[in-house]
Amino acid sequence: MMKAFIKTYGCQMNERDSDALAADLVKAGYSITDVEAEADILLFNTCSVRDAAERKAKGKIGFMRKLKKQNPDLIIGVMGCMAQRMGNTLLEELPHLDFVLGTGQLHKLLEVIEQVKRERVKTALTEPSPEVLTGLDGHYGNSIKGQIAITRGCNRFCSYCIVPYVRGRELSREKGDIIAEAREMVSRGAREILLLGQNVAAYGLNGDIRPPAPDHSPFAELLEELETIPELLRIRFTSPYPSYFNSRLIETIAKSDKICHNIHLPLQSGSDRILKAMNRQYTNESYREKVAELKSAIKDLTLSTDVIVGFPGETDEDFALTRELMNDVGFEQSYIFKYSPRPGAKSAEVPDSIPESVKEERNQILLDDLSKRIVSRLESMVGSTVTVLAEGVSARNDARWTGRTDNNIVVHFEPDDTIKAGTLRQVKITRSGGVSLFGELR
Ligand code: SAH
Ligand code: SF4
Ligand code: F3S
Repeated sequence: MMKAFIKTYGCQMNERDSDALAADLVKAGYSITDVEAEADILLFNTCSVRDAAERKAKGKIGFMRKLKKQNPDLIIGVMGCMAQRMGNTLLEELPHLDFVLGTGQLHKLLEVIEQVKRERVKTALTEPSPEVLTGLDGHYGNSIKGQIAITRGCNRFCSYCIVPYVRGRELSREKGDIIAEAREMVSRGAREILLLGQNVAAYGLNGDIRPPAPDHSPFAELLEELETIPELLRIRFTSPYPSYFNSRLIETIAKSDKICHNIHLPLQSGSDRILKAMNRQYTNESYREKVAELKSAIKDLTLSTDVIVGFPGETDEDFALTRELMNDVGFEQSYIFKYSPRPGAKSAEVPDSIPESVKEERNQILLDDLSKRIVSRLESMVGSTVTVLAEGVSARNDARWTGRTDNNIVVHFEPDDTIKAGTLRQVKITRSGGVSLFGELR
């Protein structure tokens, strides 16, 4: 049996694509291996969002030259966002590659592999195609947690961002297809589903870049339909652009006991001047109002966010506004990125003016704020009883099990005889481990 190895870089959308492609490969008779040296096919699903992401993948792929030397029949393919951005150039830069498959052509993976086997010619496919919308619905992973891509592409064109260029225009899948995929996953044991899109709350809006009226949200309607699947216990989603979070959607989440009360609300910056330069359609004030609206409607709400430090022209005052807003909101989790100019994105037309040392300093300040918040939040939970979705034996200690709270906090506990993955259990928290919690089953 031929063996395929897949390495994934970048976001959850890429993870999801790799999982669907692994399912296609298995269906076609391949097995999946995590040992490069024993694979007949090496696949790299890449990311372009920051320069570092590209460098990392290129380094790794370059290193595969020696495997190709040992085994000239080895097939090596690069897929995903960097493949889309670079196309043929990648074949020139890395001559040991056999093919390059862009984001619009992922559904053609098996075809391309067959063609390479037959003809041994190099191919780069980067045409956009809506077929990826319907063609990538398989699931290789069989875990109690699964992911579904509900939209693809992005129409927002934030000035720093390469995603709209490498993922193409925003498209929404048919609701019926999504529900069918969810039912199928649940019938195979999934109990938690994470819905994915670059701007998930724009689901069903036909690419319109104006946020919907307060009472209109096809995304909320989709959530409501998913909730009716009896065995499905939890629904999460990422990421919603703040201005698409309207009353209709907030109400749906507030009244649901399946949709997790943990929301990722990308901020990027707390300075109106920088937000404007980023082409983000909200202000410090309107972001705060959105948070206040969410917090007052949804009890136990926790929030996470993405922030960029060192955007061109970001002054100490701009940065202070970001830091202040983050501390006021009290994000439970934040992903902080140092600005990286991306070729083709609007912001790359102006100099990357903030020195690396300043980016690093600002990054560290926000990370320190975050870790203080996490430590005190976890400490405050000691003594309380939480509901966790039991996931299985802990990776670090096989005498323990792990689960997650609705708010996505990892909890370790000793199992009892009745423990079963994919069930909700009550755990009394006995101590904090700094980044996760320990407790006892009730
Ligand atoms: N669609 C998602 C974000 C996808 S990219 C959303 O809008 O929420 C994930 C994160 O990477 C972004 O939220 C942003 O914080 C960061 N990012 C994107 N482009 C970047 C760049 N050029 N430099 C640094 N960080 C960037
Ligand atoms: Fe990039 Fe903005 Fe689209 Fe997110 S919403 S993918 S940051 S352009
Ligand atoms: Fe994701 Fe990176 Fe592409 S963040 S959409 S894999 S550029």
